Amino acid sequence: MEGFSAHRVFFFLALLTMAGLAAPPARAGAAPYACDASDPATRSYGFCRRTLPIEKRVEDLVSRLTLPEKISQLGNAAAGVTRLGIPAFQWWSESLHGVSNAGRGIRFEGALTAATSFPQVILTAATFNPLLWYRIGQAVGTEVRAFYNAGQAEGLALWSPNINIFRDPRWGRGQETPGEDPLTAGKYAVAYVRGLQGDSFHGGSLRGELKASACCKHLTAYDLDHWKGFSRLSFDAKVSAQDLADTYQPPFRSCVMEGQASGIMCSYNLVNGVPTCADYDLLTRTARGSWGFNGYITSDCDAVAAIYENHRYAGSPPEAVADALRAGMDVNCGAYMQNYTEEALRLGKIVEGDINRALRNLFSVRMRLGLFNGNPKSLAFGNLGPSQVCTQEHQDLALEAARDGIVLLKNADHLLPLSKSKVASIAIMGPNSNNAWRMLGDYAGPPCTSITPLLALKSYVSETHYLPGCESAACPSAAIDEAVKLAGAVDQVVLFMGLDQEQESEDLDRVDLVLPGMQRSLITSVAKAARRPVILVLLCGGPVDVSFVKTDPTVGAIIWAGYPGQAGGTAIAEVLFGDHNPGGRLPVSWYPQEFTVVPMTDMRMRPDPATGYPGRTYRFYTGEVVFPFGYGLSYSSYSYRFVAVADRLLPSDEATAVGGGAEEEGASSDGDAVDVADMSSESCERLKFSAVVGVRNTGETAGRHSVLLFVRRSKPPAGGGGKQLVDFTSVRLSAGEDANLTFVVNPCEHLSRAALDGSKVLDGGSYSLVVGDEEHPIKLHPW
Ligand SMILES: *[C@@H]1O[C@H](CO)[C@@H](O)[C@H](O)[C@H]1NC(C)=O
Ligand SMILES: *[C@@H]1O[C@H](CO)[C@@H](O)[C@H](O)[C@H]1NC(C)=O
Repeated sequence: MEGFSAHRVFFFLALLTMAGLAAPPARAGAAPYACDASDPATRSYGFCRRTLPIEKRVEDLVSRLTLPEKISQLGNAAAGVTRLGIPAFQWWSESLHGVSNAGRGIRFEGALTAATSFPQVILTAATFNPLLWYRIGQAVGTEVRAFYNAGQAEGLALWSPNINIFRDPRWGRGQETPGEDPLTAGKYAVAYVRGLQGDSFHGGSLRGELKASACCKHLTAYDLDHWKGFSRLSFDAKVSAQDLADTYQPPFRSCVMEGQASGIMCSYNLVNGVPTCADYDLLTRTARGSWGFNGYITSDCDAVAAIYENHRYAGSPPEAVADALRAGMDVNCGAYMQNYTEEALRLGKIVEGDINRALRNLFSVRMRLGLFNGNPKSLAFGNLGPSQVCTQEHQDLALEAARDGIVLLKNADHLLPLSKSKVASIAIMGPNSNNAWRMLGDYAGPPCTSITPLLALKSYVSETHYLPGCESAACPSAAIDEAVKLAGAVDQVVLFMGLDQEQESEDLDRVDLVLPGMQRSLITSVAKAARRPVILVLLCGGPVDVSFVKTDPTVGAIIWAGYPGQAGGTAIAEVLFGDHNPGGRLPVSWYPQEFTVVPMTDMRMRPDPATGYPGRTYRFYTGEVVFPFGYGLSYSSYSYRFVAVADRLLPSDEATAVGGGAEEEGASSDGDAVDVADMSSESCERLKFSAVVGVRNTGETAGRHSVLLFVRRSKPPAGGGGKQLVDFTSVRLSAGEDANLTFVVNPCEHLSRAALDGSKVLDGGSYSLVVGDEEHPIKLHPW
């Protein structure tokens, strides 16, 4: 989102005046709410009656509104309706990794001037720990409510999480996402949404009531911002039904079906010629129909305007508005709908029922948030106040997420962890050593505190020297001579390099994967001059090609720390000095610079050997990587074994057969395939089996370790691919400790593949379960 063009944003005020509407006088420092019991009029309003079902209340409310009042609701700044005691509502707030001021709904002026700033999502994803993701969602939901109760929020609709697949390493917003794997992105979405909205970790306890409203964005196939003249505002993503089915859509499906998200955002781009916000098949048939979505759908900011102004898909502004409303979109970020809906109605391009439908969706979410129940102070969540923001618990959680996400990429000759007693002097170099804001990533808000790496390392080493070397990640020039001199004079050099928001961010994709500017020269010169091998810490969201130091003995260790949030410096220092054993694993493949010959605009996931197109992500990419998906070292070591599959101990090297009755029917040969849609849920249920994986910490250091279970097809399907994540779990193990982890494999979901037409197909035949270097063969006889 949400690059708002200023001329559109503020038009709304003019419209308010035109329509004779005004927001009710703001109660200073109080949360805005409708159905104030102290106002006798509210007793006669059906929409205020809490005993009625929400559909009835919404119906009553919509029936009371005039047309101008209705239209005034269709923008992110929804007007108040004073005569009915309904306050204004701001749909646009952001909370990707903490309460943010990037939207319009939350103010950091007042009792609350800061919020807990968790690591940028890509680093949190590297923990592969859904419970941690859930707890972060919970903490953010609590802090957002506290802002609301303190009168510093004009809405409780958060436009998070961003679950587009990190398809191309150059994407400026990849940092906001949980990475390149659809299963991981889906699990992230479910955990975060449940936490934020106030559901339980396992789901099913929501009963309609929302602590805050989450929004799955950006539906769909949106992962190009601005690259070599291509802009998200006009980009037509050509996506096959097959890729849509097994890459682009699954996170959104999970976000809605399992996460029960109450919001969806449609994206800027077109998919196969149709703007997503004007796509009835996508918004109404798929999201509301197949997935059972029952919340509101917003456009990305100005995405309705783009239907006409950029895409020329519609012939006029009212037609663009009609296209979006009739496709099933409910509210527009921007003022375009408030501006042109009346004309669309007058021209007969929509009927009032289209507007009423949007209003029902919008008001039902506001009612589920409890904002039509009178003073929320006396209701659920009413007790959350300023003392619930920046609590020690939340700040510890931000530190825990940063620690657990950090990925150790190289550790030659056990250079790390550093010994506190042996490092008397340290040189801290690089443009990312001491910039608090750069540690946060995009969509951040003012953090409770900010511990930079420089600050944190000062408490570990008595003699610290700081030399940025270059002023920002762009590093157009570097103080190499000075850096070389310092490097030779200290016990240890740590370089904090990587990227920042001037290199990768919203509306800014990269064209290269190498470190920008003079960074490489600075690193290699310093490394050559240093007394011992140096440590390279990379702060960046997207991957960088650091092949040049992978085997260089003068660079002993490499750490990736994403954008680690407010506690990032502490987490990094703890890892460097062994107060924390790193266990993060890369949620995205790190490609070499040569990958940049692939046009970013090519949406195909699968390789095309005929043209040399290498495909994308660990599931399909056929080329070399700098570091693979799931990569990450530890100060300890772990071993795996398959303890039991399908509920029985394994006879040593024999495949486990799964599925019933097939042997007799002789249906086990490769090539048998069924359409999963034709299978009953009982037969899918019957195929489920459990796999118990034993994991042992074989080293001398306790640590948290994520176990990733993959499945590989013995015979890759036509078009490539074959390895796919099935599940993962994170476990803490002391030195020498072991654990048995049970994974439930659902073949209909985990072993199926998408056919060309997007249907799910389950093949009979041989597969392997894979964890680390261990493989366990299974044979599937599904029918
Ligand atoms: C709405 O229309 C007016 C002209 O009637 C125009 O000046 C304004 O820019 C428009 N705003 C949007 C968001 O389309
Ligand atoms: C894991 O399962 C194996 C086989 O049943 C058993 O021998 C072992 O003790 C179990 N380990 C733990 C930690 O429960």
